[in-house]
Amino acid sequence: MKKEIGFIFDLDGVIVDTAKYHYLAWRNLANSLGFDFTEEQNEQLKGVSRVKSLEILLNIGKVTLSEEKKQFLLLEKNKEYLEYVNTMTSDEILPGVNQLLTFLETNNIKFALGSASKNAPLILEKVGLYQRFTAIVDGNDVSKAKPNPEVFLIGAKKLNMNPENCIVFEDAIAGIQAANTAKMISIGIGDADVLSEANYVFKNMEAITTDFLKNLIN
Ligand code: BG6
Ligand code: MG
Repeated sequence: MKKEIGFIFDLDGVIVDTAKYHYLAWRNLANSLGFDFTEEQNEQLKGVSRVKSLEILLNIGKVTLSEEKKQFLLLEKNKEYLEYVNTMTSDEILPGVNQLLTFLETNNIKFALGSASKNAPLILEKVGLYQRFTAIVDGNDVSKAKPNPEVFLIGAKKLNMNPENCIVFEDAIAGIQAANTAKMISIGIGDADVLSEANYVFKNMEAITTDFLKNLIN
């Protein structure tokens, strides 16, 4: 018998690879403040809110700024990030995502977005996926960032599902921890060593097999 379950997807790094655009915008900001910012350091910003990301970046550069200047830089960073986002099309949906969503639709399984990004609705519109989600929870809806489970708990509520019956797809450690704390099944997308706290890990969305999905839902 089919279980009543809901799927919740993180956006950046799971549905689309926007980390590269975040990186370019943060690196330009770092450079403008007189220090470099490497791709390796950028790993620390994955899944982290915009405000917290700036704090981490300033820490890396050992730069102290006034609150007013920080607010200005956050706006500037987002302005540049949106320039990249505005060029996005469905070509940027990561391999395997469309097939997975089609599988869920075919099996009448509802899915939601659970993202820290305040730009999530715009990004989903740009890549043509907005209408397919039953519910969207983004950075505008939460007061506590991942690893707090708030974003996924709101997602479960919007899907009308018990948290224990939800399955979360995440590429960030903080996101896996949020899903685990919410008592959801956590599926890590990325490096198994990095995402060792996840219930299951796949190196990318394309690696998820139909057999695995059938087992999850049956
Ligand atoms: C997360 C990203 O999904 O959203 C983070 O992984 C990002 O890197 C965060 O900082 C907030 O995004 P935005 O679009 O609101 O600046
Ligand atoms: Mg992510």
